[in-house]
Amino acid sequence: MDVARDLAELPLPPSTGGLPWLGDSLAFGRDPMAYLVEKYREYGPVFEVSLPGEPVVVLAGVEANRFANKEGKALFASRSTYLELVRELGSDLNMIVLEGEQHELFRRAGRVGYSKGALNRSVGEAVAILRRELSEVANGQRVDAFVFLQRAVSLQLGVVATQTPADEVVDDLVVFMRTLMLVYLAGLWPKAVTRMPRFRRVKARALAFAKEIVDGHRDNPPTTDSYESVEGEDGRARDLIDDFLDAHAKDPESMPMDAVYAAALGPFLAGQDTVAGTTAFMLHAVLTRPQLLERARAEADALFAAGTPSAKQLQGAKVLRGIVAETLRRFPVAPLLTRRAAETFEFAGHRVEAGRKVFIAQTLTHFLSEHFDAPLDFEVERGRAAGGTLAPFGVGPHTCPGAGLGERLAMLDLAVLLHTTDFELPRRGEKLRMRTLPPAPKDFMLRMRPRRP
Ligand code: HEM
Repeated sequence: MDVARDLAELPLPPSTGGLPWLGDSLAFGRDPMAYLVEKYREYGPVFEVSLPGEPVVVLAGVEANRFANKEGKALFASRSTYLELVRELGSDLNMIVLEGEQHELFRRAGRVGYSKGALNRSVGEAVAILRRELSEVANGQRVDAFVFLQRAVSLQLGVVATQTPADEVVDDLVVFMRTLMLVYLAGLWPKAVTRMPRFRRVKARALAFAKEIVDGHRDNPPTTDSYESVEGEDGRARDLIDDFLDAHAKDPESMPMDAVYAAALGPFLAGQDTVAGTTAFMLHAVLTRPQLLERARAEADALFAAGTPSAKQLQGAKVLRGIVAETLRRFPVAPLLTRRAAETFEFAGHRVEAGRKVFIAQTLTHFLSEHFDAPLDFEVERGRAAGGTLAPFGVGPHTCPGAGLGERLAMLDLAVLLHTTDFELPRRGEKLRMRTLPPAPKDFMLRMRPRRP
């Protein structure tokens, strides 16, 4: 069989046509997932949309998720999507742009440090950070919940993932990451922004912080092999950065020092907006459903009844677990993955040519009624999802290594918020408005007051 000829005979993905000049960008920009679901119904699991820059082939549906899980390693490259962004971190080598053996080396280095065990060690510190941030909001002050959480989560990730307080640089980290995303991922801001003095100052402070994290680890090595507990007062547990330093010591060519520095910013880059956005969506869902609020608050109060909850207690918090799972389904903060086709391949009877820009719309299944009843409803007691239908943490080789940690931290933060604080949601705020980049509730202004038992 001549595979090349067979492929050449296959039709190209159908084009959605879109509006003249504007392509699909208006409707896509308004609500990307709703638009893609509509086109999926019309064209099936593979079609082409016209967006500014170049047309994009969309792969969607459970068949696309299974295909990406199975063939993703060989057929999709993430390098062109993320390379310019990761270069701003000071290295070309970063988990998200690597493939093959070197990718596996980086994944191995991050396997434990990115896992939920990292939070087990630091639940108390994570709680203290959020409580402190809450105490700095004046009684009755109105705050944008997402902006508030973005800062708090960033501070927490400093301690949880790298055992380094990020207090001095947290505002820089937020601006740095937002700029990188808007310039390099969304293409909404011109590259000239990265040459402006403000960005250069922010970047210099972020990179200096990365160096401080790594040098601090080198100068003060862990005193135990455990990632979860510390022996003695001056002891230090292992974490992500120690594992990257070890990987560097073993194979400095594959894991050069500048890649270790860049990896120290990984938790902030990947975790800050995703966890903050998810927690803000959770909070909105709960505050607009009085019965759910009552159940979630009762569970949060029980968790804190005897001080800081353990990781095990948190895991057993059924209502909070249902809320985070349903939030990740209904409001996925990383709804699709951008790639290039590494070679020409067949998908669903169509030819996707090498080099084409591809969206793997891995969360589109979340919005299909054949997989989830009334998919737009928020329902915390949904049963187990069928394989390949739930993918908030991605599909294929780059699937999120911080999934357990992210989910757990979002649950913990919701529990702290409900246990300590009363929220007043203005009537106008009941209707959820969406930011698309990063995905989060928009102008979700809450009046906060310390809760009186
Ligand atoms: C609710 C929270 C989170 C969501 C929804 C989420 C989602 C995702 C998704 C969809 C990807 C795949 C990106 C791609 O393939 O292009 C990813 C990758 C990644 N995430 Fe997360 N993430 C979350 C939290 C975190 C946290 C807390 C961390 C670390 C502290 C983290 C670290 C990473 C890293 C390092 C990668 C790159 C993996 C690789 O390239 O192999 N994430 N995440």
